[in-house]
Amino acid sequence: MSQFLIIPLVTAAVFASWTVSVWGADEAVLKPRVPSDQLREARTWTNPLPATEDTIEKGKKLFQGKAFCVTCHGRDGKGLGSDIEPGTLKGPLPRDFTDKDWQAARTDGELLWILKHGSNGTAMAPFIPLILTEEEAWQVLLYVRSFGQNRDKPEVEGQP
Ligand code: HEC
Repeated sequence: MSQFLIIPLVTAAVFASWTVSVWGADEAVLKPRVPSDQLREARTWTNPLPATEDTIEKGKKLFQGKAFCVTCHGRDGKGLGSDIEPGTLKGPLPRDFTDKDWQAARTDGELLWILKHGSNGTAMAPFIPLILTEEEAWQVLLYVRSFGQNRDKPEVEGQP
């Protein structure tokens, strides 16, 4: 299926889930998002890719490009992107990826699980395999992890 078809479909599904969701602001950020019966297995998955400038840069391109993570997670990884008006997103808000407590609370495997299955009842949809291959997902996750390390430093150089 072409990306041009998938993106509107996913976007429509996401907007539908926003309107029916009744969650307030997300207070339990550190609570695992993976269902408890699958958590143990998800935690055994590890990122096969090394965190190099090259792999992180690839992840960044996906995050800001075809995987459109940036629309909700923002260029700074802190949550709402500038494309979304504050208050329009119902349900738990996107994660602040620069939050070191959140970064420490999650294993890579749990994050990959979310990219495969989405986070139930939230605007976070599944991305594998429709939009990202598993390898691309691991690249994106290296970029997500880089937000936890570069809080006081500028973004990976060379980008606006
Ligand atoms: C339509 C908005 C939207 C898009 C697009 C989106 N996310 Fe999310 N994301 C969210 C929301 C909302 C949450 C919070 C879900 C929750 O609290 O369980 C979230 C949560 C997450 C989490 C954290 C889950 C946890 O364990 O705390 C990760 C990792 C994540 N997103 C990665 C991504 C990546 C990578 C992309 C692009 C491939 C992406 N998201 C695209 C809205 C979005």
